[in-house]
Amino acid sequence: MSVRVVIGAQFGDEAKGKISDELAATARYVVRTSGGPNAGHTIHPPGGKVVLHQLSAGVLRPETVGISGPGMVIEPFKLRTEIEELERQGFLRGSFYLSDRAHVILPLHEIQDGWEDDLRARKNPGAGLGTTRRGIGPAYADRTARFGLRLGELARPDLVAERLGLLYETKRHLPDLPSMEKLKGRLLEVGQYLAPHIRAVEPILWTAIERGEGIVLEGAQSALLDLDFGTYPYVTSSHPTSAGALIGSGLPPQVIDEVIGVAKGYATRVGTGPFPTEVQGEAGERLQRLGGEFGATTGRPRRCGWLDLVLLRYAARLNGFTSLALTKVDVLAGLTEVPICVEYRLADGSRLYDRPPTAAEEFQSVTPVYETLPGWPEFTDRLRERLAHEGAPALPRELRGFIEYVAHASGIPVQFVAYGPDRGATVRLDRRAGGRSLRSGLVPWSH
Ligand code: IMP
Repeated sequence: MSVRVVIGAQFGDEAKGKISDELAATARYVVRTSGGPNAGHTIHPPGGKVVLHQLSAGVLRPETVGISGPGMVIEPFKLRTEIEELERQGFLRGSFYLSDRAHVILPLHEIQDGWEDDLRARKNPGAGLGTTRRGIGPAYADRTARFGLRLGELARPDLVAERLGLLYETKRHLPDLPSMEKLKGRLLEVGQYLAPHIRAVEPILWTAIERGEGIVLEGAQSALLDLDFGTYPYVTSSHPTSAGALIGSGLPPQVIDEVIGVAKGYATRVGTGPFPTEVQGEAGERLQRLGGEFGATTGRPRRCGWLDLVLLRYAARLNGFTSLALTKVDVLAGLTEVPICVEYRLADGSRLYDRPPTAAEEFQSVTPVYETLPGWPEFTDRLRERLAHEGAPALPRELRGFIEYVAHASGIPVQFVAYGPDRGATVRLDRRAGGRSLRSGLVPWSH
């Protein structure tokens, strides 16, 4: 059994939840390694649709365990609602553990998140980040400043009181803070509710590895939203890369077998920040409509555009992708031509092929250079049936051409192609990718 890491290769919302759910079929543990309720992983198991925010896809299958890992920031009241809602829908089928090291998001953090983003926008209307306002940045900041409260500490009333006292002192400038006493009472209560699930999760994972049990490390957000390697400051406050998945789980690098980069056949972005391949007008609206591109957490419309190979190559190098999962290819079906950005041209005439400029302003002003590939036909019921029975050989010829192009141009084999939201609407391509091991990384792919 193996340890596989699922990483967003674009700006988030690549359907990582769907891939993680498919991989969960052959795993024992599925671990969310970073972020918190800013994520919304939409999954369509048989019988309905669920959106997971702070629990991993492991909770949806009776034979798997979902772990919310040490790299996360968890809002306990929202988590309680998520658990109760899943129970009510009958989807909470696996058990779950919550890391005692994960940090707690408090109402103060949410207030601070909104206040700070408004401050940025007041100083400069273009500088607001458009965060999800879920308190992510401030909770991670308090973690780093060592003012944070951890999930495992909710069982200790004296410690909760002490930390709240400190946090209220540091946040006196914020408006409308809730009563500290009331918050303390609510935290102790929700801590009791969650207590049966809170534990040290690293030893569980180490033992799983010794026993040869499968583990999926489920990333949230994406490589281009990484605090350091994303489009700073238009980023989230965690490390949604494969390196971050190690810190976020407590696993060492040697145990990782595969790093699967998930990319849509096109691109989207929520919130502000550089997005060179964004398209306005009818083409963008079409992607938004057919792809249902509205935030699963905030409901905000997502900005839409074409697949960007410069960023895909960058994400591949940064994360060491061993394969790709290309998702939502059905959304592009019916187009006569499909544009793909192959390089950037800069103002001074130079070109960039496998990395964006470091500065967000420079990144925003690059000119994308496109190739166009032939489009593929609509996904009729008949085609879907054939794909379900025959697998990859039933993929339309033009789509195979698109997949091959992406694999060759990025140097990463495509292992999965997802053509619809339902569990099972995914085909798997030859894992060995022309006879080469997936571990070899940046190699060209051929049939
Ligand atoms: P934060 O993570 O709420 O601080 O938001 C920072 C930036 O990351 C904003 O542009 C958000 O829209 C974006 N972001 C955060 N989480 C997600 C996600 O799950 N999908 C897509 N974008 C996200």
